[in-house]
Amino acid sequence: MNNENEVELLHHDADGIQELDNLLPRWWVWLFWGCNIFAVAYMLYYHTFNLGDLQEAEYAREARAGEQLKTAALAAFESNLDSLQPATDESTLASGSQIYTTYCAPCHRADGGGLVGPNLTDDYWIHGTSYQDNLRTIINGVPEKGMITWRGVLKPNEVQAVASFIYKLRGSNPPDPKPAENTAPAASAGPSQFE
Ligand code: HEC
Repeated sequence: MNNENEVELLHHDADGIQELDNLLPRWWVWLFWGCNIFAVAYMLYYHTFNLGDLQEAEYAREARAGEQLKTAALAAFESNLDSLQPATDESTLASGSQIYTTYCAPCHRADGGGLVGPNLTDDYWIHGTSYQDNLRTIINGVPEKGMITWRGVLKPNEVQAVASFIYKLRGSNPPDPKPAENTAPAASAGPSQFE
């Protein structure tokens, strides 16, 4: 055998074409055997001894962890509702307005005057007058009356933003509103916010 740097012609030829017997570069050989060893180790680990999760199980595990985070965040938000106040800063109200236009306006009308859903601008409330009552209605919905449950659909900060936005619609007197469902302002309302 020649030393590593020399080349040798193989003893065959096809129509005058001959082949050189070069040594394969070291890095190539390492890579080749490295891949082989990796492949065998991978197969044993994942498919023979089932020591690691395949991507489907991995996905399910991460999705479960995500659900838990979400449930915990929602639970923390909901247990904290009573201490929340409507936001008044421009950027929260702007994002609330956007959420309202996308999700709520089809039922409550763009100006809150009411369509399928009740008027949100007057002093008459079915499910309580306070900001916190509104938050609860938005989160829990009233499924049997056609008000969707927004828990898990809107994030806590989005619920607060849209509730702050509709809070600001109170007293805006839009033209041609949907008539009040109740005959009197809700008893729990106390003095109107606008007196
Ligand atoms: C599919 C139609 C629909 C959509 C969409 C909808 N609502 Fe409603 N909403 C209703 C109906 C119907 C009621 C009245 C429920 C009842 O009669 O008890 C209601 C009631 C409410 C109430 C309570 C009103 C009261 O008088 O106590 C609030 C607050 C409210 N919706 C806010 C929202 C917000 C905020 C959104 C968007 C995130 C929204 N709604 C999206 C149909 C809808």
